[in-house]
Amino acid sequence: MSDTFDPEDIAVYSDPEDVDLETIMKYIDDNDDKEGTEVLRVNDGRRTMICSMKSPRDDGQLCAFSVTEMEPTSTLEEIKNDFAKKLDEWKESACWKDLETVLRRLLSEGHISVDNCVLLGSGCVSSAKFGDELIPETRERSLVQFAVFYSVASLIGSCQNDKPPKLYAQEPSFNNVDREFCNSLGIQCVDHPVGFDVITSNSFAYCPGAEQIVDLRCFQQNPALYLGGEADLWHDAFGRLRSRFEAIHCDARGKMLSRDEGYSPEDALCAQVVQNFMATHENHVLPKHKHGVAATWLIYKKE
Ligand SMILES: C[S@@+](CC[C@H](N)C(=O)[O-])C[C@H]1O[C@@H](n2cnc3c(N)ncnc32)[C@H](O)[C@@H]1O
Repeated sequence: MSDTFDPEDIAVYSDPEDVDLETIMKYIDDNDDKEGTEVLRVNDGRRTMICSMKSPRDDGQLCAFSVTEMEPTSTLEEIKNDFAKKLDEWKESACWKDLETVLRRLLSEGHISVDNCVLLGSGCVSSAKFGDELIPETRERSLVQFAVFYSVASLIGSCQNDKPPKLYAQEPSFNNVDREFCNSLGIQCVDHPVGFDVITSNSFAYCPGAEQIVDLRCFQQNPALYLGGEADLWHDAFGRLRSRFEAIHCDARGKMLSRDEGYSPEDALCAQVVQNFMATHENHVLPKHKHGVAATWLIYKKE
């Protein structure tokens, strides 16, 4: 492990009550250089895991986080009903109409063909839990994001009659009910990091409201189509790329500000990842949708 390794850099979203820092550190030591998911225990059918990832912001150094699958608060039948409603609503939105037009054009021009569609970090359609609280919007956002993913994947399928894409979803907090729902839509749930590994230059990757590390890891795989936030969301107030998703400060117009005016080697690495991706891709800004993070930018491979 490198001398510059800082324990504060890992476990960005681990709950110390689930897995202590010592266990995570040991896991990193034992698995030097290997991304994966290890199940530590199963309680009430829900797994507690450690996931490790080669951090694009630390030059590929292994970092890890722990996660416990969410407790479901809805049944499969409820999810199916709510999803059908959200899909209808989404299909009426200006955002979808614009996205559909652009995707039809790109797919008919022939330089983009999609072998697989990957949904990363949707949150859980089965659960309104947020910590100890119940926050219905959490689940609603997830339902909308599934509607977005499913509508795009179906459109791709219909434009590529002879070659329907495979569908994958990776969300470490998915529980059995989420997995059953995915299954009902023909989406294969995979454990981290398989969702990244399957992304190629013939993929559609959807990262709604993703952590920076997830976006960067996705950009490294160079998907033909990316849907998610603004890639330059990671710019600081000086137009340089930010390296962290923590402690976001915004100015009066909502633009993120840098907490630290220094520009570290990590920032430069992140900048490079995004710049490499954007150098071969173009972006299309979508009309605003009431669930903002559902889809803001479509980024697509240049001809
Ligand atoms: C900021 S939350 C956004 C959740 C949801 N998309 C939304 O907009 O409310 C980021 C999500 O990414 C998930 N996540 C974290 N690491 C991930 C990984 N390696 N692969 C896929 N999803 C991941 C988290 O579990 C979390 O649900």
